[in-house]
Amino acid sequence: MIESPQRVLITGAAGFIGSHLTDRLLERGLEVIGIDDLSSGSRANLASALRKPRFRFVEGDLLDPGAIRQVLGKCASVFHLAADPEVRVGVENPDSHYRQNLQATYNLLEAIRKRNTPTRLVFTSTCPCNSLQVHQSMEPAHSVTKTYTGAFSGNS
Ligand SMILES: NC(=O)c1ccc[n+]([C@@H]2O[C@H](COP(=O)([O-])OP(=O)(O)OC[C@H]3O[C@@H](n4cnc5c(N)ncnc54)[C@H](O)[C@@H]3O)[C@@H](O)[C@H]2O)c1
Repeated sequence: MIESPQRVLITGAAGFIGSHLTDRLLERGLEVIGIDDLSSGSRANLASALRKPRFRFVEGDLLDPGAIRQVLGKCASVFHLAADPEVRVGVENPDSHYRQNLQATYNLLEAIRKRNTPTRLVFTSTCPCNSLQVHQSMEPAHSVTKTYTGAFSGNS
């Protein structure tokens, strides 16, 4: 019996890490579905992957639950890399960061929960969380009171 290749979903597939991961997993013989809204990523990052029959790219936004359902399909694993990792945006426009990082992640988790199928989720979190700094006040000096290393990585 010929086994069908394992199918994985990569969110943020057209971004820096997502596009490299896409290439690596295709090299390993996996079937990859990539979703990206191209807000900062680019199809050019997927030039090699787009030539491979085991790769399917969907231009879609994780803020749209329908787009997530469309790509989740029978994927056994999800690598969640879609994000706006630009720290300055979070400071200057927290509303945008809330939607792109929190709401988008929530939508993905909800879609996985609702389909009720065992799914492996790999989430990198974000570099600012690796050394989360808690400010005692919002004074211009931003006095740092505590640093939580690996606060969201399960290492603390
Ligand atoms: N690059 C690093 O060194 C590094 C280090 C640690 C953690 N990380 C984390 O890894 C993740 C990916 O980082 P990256 O450097 O590849 O970022 P990136 O900006 O290159 O890629 C993110 C991708 O997500 C897409 N995207 C954003 N919002 C979306 C949405 N609502 N729906 C669909 N696609 C959306 C963007 O278009 C982009 O292609 C981020 O969470 C980042 O914080 C990155």
